Amino acid sequence: MPDNTRRARDEAFWHTFADRYDVQPGPINLENGYFGRMSRTVVEEYQRNIELINRGNSVHVRQRFEQGESVKIQALVAKLIGVPAEAVALTRNASDGLQSLIRNYNRLQPGDQVLICDLEYDTVKGAMRWLAKHRGVEVIEIEHQHPASFDSLLATYRETFARYPRLKLMALTHVTHRTGLVMPVQAIAAAAKEHDIDVILDGAHALGQFEFNLDELGIEFAAYNLHKWIGAPLTLGFLYIAPSAWRTSTRTWAKCITRSPTFAPARPTAHRISRRC
Ligand SMILES: Cc1ncc(COP(=O)(O)O)c(C=O)c1O
Repeated sequence: MPDNTRRARDEAFWHTFADRYDVQPGPINLENGYFGRMSRTVVEEYQRNIELINRGNSVHVRQRFEQGESVKIQALVAKLIGVPAEAVALTRNASDGLQSLIRNYNRLQPGDQVLICDLEYDTVKGAMRWLAKHRGVEVIEIEHQHPASFDSLLATYRETFARYPRLKLMALTHVTHRTGLVMPVQAIAAAAKEHDIDVILDGAHALGQFEFNLDELGIEFAAYNLHKWIGAPLTLGFLYIAPSAWRTSTRTWAKCITRSPTFAPARPTAHRISRRC
């Protein structure tokens, strides 16, 4: 029996989680699609930190935010996906990260093509269409067969890659909010690589639902939140840019774009992400 199946039946194990939540009258939230409920300890820590920042606001932001806590949190979230801490940057949510990665991606020339499918999140589709308007690229939109299978998904991507040779970038959703499907990311990313197509992975529903290693999946750009399945307070997330995709600069891109509490996401001209420059 696989470990996960054994665990699913281990009542004592699940009680250690249930004990962290109070059961109160009223609706019981079993839906983590918007955000998961915080445990009692997380709520208490959250309130303690709000009070702390309220008291010491500018001291905290100027002297501690970038040197202490955010660096520790950065290392912890990097560990969750098995990547180096400096390849990760904190954001407000997955949307922030995805918008930053898509809008600032600068390997595109007018006439190039970018790819989305029917399973992508609407704001991801919107950001890819933004590229069409502002960078002169063409958006290719495909529909998968439903119900989809490993083979049908891969075959659709393979056909698309062969049919559109000017494809440079694609969005991919690890766990789609539309059908709950877990995409065969590793196989799709490997096929994309054969055609020199970069993949930006939407990991909004993956983190905390199952374990994965981004290096093994062959993914260089990804974005996550911590407030759905991890149970952190709203609004927390992070983006990932693999060291292989950094530009040769004394500062990494991840640091450039988000290591500031005043970070404004999706500012297209602020910093561009590229493996070419
Ligand atoms: C597939 C998918 N991508 C991205 C997002 C955006 O996540 P966030 O709330 O972290 O911005 C969601 C949120 O529901 C989602 O379902």
